[in-house]
Amino acid sequence: MPEPIKTITVVGSGYVGLTTAALLSNCGYKVYALEINPERLDVVKQGRSFFYEEGLDPLIKNALEEGSLIPTDSYDEAIPSSQVVFSCVGTPDNEDGSSNLTYVFDAASQAAQLMQPGTAFVQKSTVPVGTGEKVEQKFKEAGKTLSYISNPEFLREGTAIADSLWFDRIVVGSDPKTAAAVVVSLYKKIEENRDKLSQISGIKKPDNTTAEPLYISTSRNSAELIKVSANAFLALKISFANSIAKLAGQAGANVNEVMDAVGADKRIGRAFLNAGRGYGGGCFPKDVSGLIRSAEDYGVEMEIMNAVTQVNSSMPHYIIHKAEEALGESIEGKNIAVLGLAFKAGTSDVRRSHAIIIANTLAHKGAKVRAYDPEAMKEAKEDLGSNISLCSSSEEAIKDSSCIFIATDWPEFKNINMGKIAQLSKNTLIVDCMNCLDPETVRKAGLSYMGVGIA
Ligand code: UDX
Repeated sequence: MPEPIKTITVVGSGYVGLTTAALLSNCGYKVYALEINPERLDVVKQGRSFFYEEGLDPLIKNALEEGSLIPTDSYDEAIPSSQVVFSCVGTPDNEDGSSNLTYVFDAASQAAQLMQPGTAFVQKSTVPVGTGEKVEQKFKEAGKTLSYISNPEFLREGTAIADSLWFDRIVVGSDPKTAAAVVVSLYKKIEENRDKLSQISGIKKPDNTTAEPLYISTSRNSAELIKVSANAFLALKISFANSIAKLAGQAGANVNEVMDAVGADKRIGRAFLNAGRGYGGGCFPKDVSGLIRSAEDYGVEMEIMNAVTQVNSSMPHYIIHKAEEALGESIEGKNIAVLGLAFKAGTSDVRRSHAIIIANTLAHKGAKVRAYDPEAMKEAKEDLGSNISLCSSSEEAIKDSSCIFIATDWPEFKNINMGKIAQLSKNTLIVDCMNCLDPETVRKAGLSYMGVGIA
């Protein structure tokens, strides 16, 4: 019988790493959160995350108080006593779209020097297929007997805790497959501790959870490819919906009605068919370009994913062009409000956010842009042009604007009082970049409405 797991190291305190560390440290394990960025480490030591994610801070705080979560920047302190090491470091993209694996290889080689024989090295970072093979080769060259398991992460920002507590599936890939048993045991432990974790985080069970999660055991290379393929397919669904939206808008149809009916076919499904300003964030754009580049390395052309990227990039400009058509004139010199800057609701993350692209493009075209987001102002500041005014409320952004772009579907924008908007700014065009408003409610308030693919 192998020794029961007592100590775990999670390398990297980003969205995936910190969520993993916070959950496992509340399940009876001693967990080192190994983070080399001093500012990020400092925030974790204070019992918080450096980004906004509902339910995460109480879990970090509780585990810190219990002494089961140990934030550190020292491999020497964390690794030797750990039976499992999770690698959750960043994989930013290079100029050419390929994945930059510097952090992945650094973390693996630093950990390998200190891991005891038999330790499980679990790769959670999204890496191109074939990366694990290279890491395993490095372990062998260092004379280490370590098991390598690819365990891709499927959590979404904004719902990270719910996704991690009530997961649909866990994929573990290793050669031999038996090496993955240790990772499965950790997820079983999370399942056992759901009630406690839900109570500490304050995150309740969502309605549409799977009764019995699937544990899928594959080869190492298949697991790596599963993660990027899943994200690529979701991105494809979004770009498909956006292509149809362009046609619907032109042909006098409503893309929401179309996708509701198309998605009602169980073979297709309704999820990720919401047309709008396109996808952004830390995963889809980089995973799609990473897939294209890594396929090229194997001599395979991903034509379909090139098209997905093209459609996605076109959306902010397409929407602005349509807004100008609806206004009947250029937006130059106009007061324009942009509500929502995060790449999606529920997060402060603005990486590759199309809301930011919309704000910057409008400003570049000579509009006087006022922007507001309930959580992402600090992060957005760096990415927004200096001529964009940052507002502290939607009212401030909206006042006297001739056009309002709803660029992120935060609940406070979905439920915004249209009567109040009509008072604050006259004859305003509401550009619903997320198709999240009811056109009738907008029109009844005396405002004009424009959606994406809604004639
Ligand atoms: C994604 C995957 O969903 C998750 O499984 C993986 O682990 C990481 O990447 P995330 O990037 O957090 O998660 O966000 P997600 O909810 O998938 O949204 C991505 C982007 O697509 C957002 O900009 C969102 O607004 C956009 N989107 C999503 C659409 O435009 N239309 C849709 O129908 C769905």
